[in-house]
Amino acid sequence: MFKKVKNNVYWVGKIDWELEWFHGHDYSINKGSSQNAYLIREEKTVLVDTVWAPHKNEFVDNLKKEIDLKDIDYIIAQHGEVDHSGSLEAIVSEIPDVPIYCTANCVKSLVGQYHHPEWNFHVVKTGDELDIGNGKKLQFIEMRMLHWPDSMATFMTGDNILFSMDVFGQHYAVEEMFDDKANNCDMWSEAMKYFANIIHTFAPMCKMKMSELDKMNLPIELICPSHGAIWRSQIPEIIKAYKDWSDNYQENQITVIYDTMWDGTKKLAHRIAQTLKKESPDSVVKIYNISQFDKNDIMTEVFKSKAIAVGSPTVAQNMLSSVGGWMEFLKECRFKGKKAAVFGCYGWSGEACDILSKHLTESGFEVIETQAKCNWNPDEENFEAADKLAKDLVATCK
Ligand code: FEO
Repeated sequence: MFKKVKNNVYWVGKIDWELEWFHGHDYSINKGSSQNAYLIREEKTVLVDTVWAPHKNEFVDNLKKEIDLKDIDYIIAQHGEVDHSGSLEAIVSEIPDVPIYCTANCVKSLVGQYHHPEWNFHVVKTGDELDIGNGKKLQFIEMRMLHWPDSMATFMTGDNILFSMDVFGQHYAVEEMFDDKANNCDMWSEAMKYFANIIHTFAPMCKMKMSELDKMNLPIELICPSHGAIWRSQIPEIIKAYKDWSDNYQENQITVIYDTMWDGTKKLAHRIAQTLKKESPDSVVKIYNISQFDKNDIMTEVFKSKAIAVGSPTVAQNMLSSVGGWMEFLKECRFKGKKAAVFGCYGWSGEACDILSKHLTESGFEVIETQAKCNWNPDEENFEAADKLAKDLVATCK
């Protein structure tokens, strides 16, 4: 089914209400998602991206209901990742000479994944244009590292549409298509989760790209991302959000994150959270058990935080594997300008606190020296150490 976006531009993607995970099992999908592809029908017919391979038959059948595939003059492949390139083979097998416009890196990723070096690739870079008739052009903008080296966006003149690829996207299923029709609370929280978990790793490049977009002074009337709702009523807002989010973003929040074996570290976590709230009543204080809460949602909470306290008991001279796996993910996100503290119980050797501290430092956090390290179950002296940790963490944020 085609859905009209504006004039001769149609949404032809897949709304995936059943999707639960993305990037393998690295990103949780809680409100569905979409793979947005678009069809432009000016004097030239242009397909902008495709959908993930499991939906390729449905995608091709839908296109064939409305057009003859032979009518497609150009394909724009803005990014090689499979959620957008997964139906290319099915399309190109029927129209093998169709020109595919993409970046040089995208040729590498598409050939590497689909093994068709004979496809009719046309390499483009920022500033290149493609005339699509009726006085309209497609202008290409490389979006290197947002979030792959091959990513690009495309601006359509005349209708003033920015096809932004993953940037400004949300893993969020919305049949109504536009931001003003969507549940804004869900949409914005998913936009932030997407940024924190996928885009933030490349925040410095994002900051530069937002500044470059400003200088281009494009008269953007619609932003059509590759996932979630199309932005038409909050374009300055989402661009400003991307600028803010890519600039060492933090809110007045402190988050306690832990896992526990026999509840000792849990008791410390809750005491730390209580004292944080007492010492900093204006701060939002949240507490999450890594094993019981969505790891991507916890990462979004870290993104919002000015400081975090991370706890793990010592097991086999290490931290718990649930905490260790999450810490590796935390390192990938490359947050900056945030404070941290560590705590945890142990029975015999007690290495976890120092290991946590080392990982957090390597992940870009400023870790305070005060630790709440408890031998066996916490007693009053240990709770006082937890209080001191909370007080010192609040003090270092001032
Ligand atoms: Fe939505 Fe990077 O793929």
